Amino acid sequence: MSKSTLDRILQAQGFGARKWCRNLIAEGEVSVAGETVTDYRREFETDQLVFSVYDEEWLYREHLYIALNKPVDYECSRKPSHHPGVLSLLPEQFSHRDVQPVGRLDHDTTGLLLMSDDGAFIHAQSSPKSHIPKVYVATTHAPVTDELVSKLLGGVKLNDEPAPLAALVCNRLDEHRLEIVLEQGKYHQVKRMLAAAGNHCEALNRAQIGQLTLAALELDEGEWCYLSTEQMALLVA
Ligand code: URA
Repeated sequence: MSKSTLDRILQAQGFGARKWCRNLIAEGEVSVAGETVTDYRREFETDQLVFSVYDEEWLYREHLYIALNKPVDYECSRKPSHHPGVLSLLPEQFSHRDVQPVGRLDHDTTGLLLMSDDGAFIHAQSSPKSHIPKVYVATTHAPVTDELVSKLLGGVKLNDEPAPLAALVCNRLDEHRLEIVLEQGKYHQVKRMLAAAGNHCEALNRAQIGQLTLAALELDEGEWCYLSTEQMALLVA
């Protein structure tokens, strides 16, 4: 439980610098439990606090844990150069909270992307020690053969990698689609593994992280949601 003044609360939630938040409050743009509050010094208990800014309601969240269904042609980098960044798909104030993608998907990869402003969570999820499996569906240029599946399961050698990398699971879904499960997250790993095994990845979708499936989240491309405690508990090895 912790109490804070309204200006500090808005600042912590990403609504801008303290001075800006004080102005918003003085101008009557902020309400708490249906009551307009114009004194920025008023203190509120932050746990479960619901407040409105410009008539839009928000729940106070100490940290943000978000799942996005990433569309093609969005970049995960902090300073996107050729396409818009994934942060542009979230409410503007989240970018003032240092929300970052947890790991990266290529600009042309779609699917489940976690985002958060909790450094410990980001580190735990992206650490190679976490062994959290990621499930991808790759569309291949050449047909998926038994030989391709066995090469990916047996391990393929990639440039700059000391040891061969193998898929944990690899299943042919149809003539040109393959489900591949990895526990590492090396640069362009699926595409490079497919190339090393003699095929080419034409499209890639991340369908699952740990036990959390994109399908269960029912997000259209470009949509996002907060993760519940139950959903967070599925992000395990
Ligand atoms: N592997 C890739 O090649 N690209 C991604 O975006 C994710 C995994």
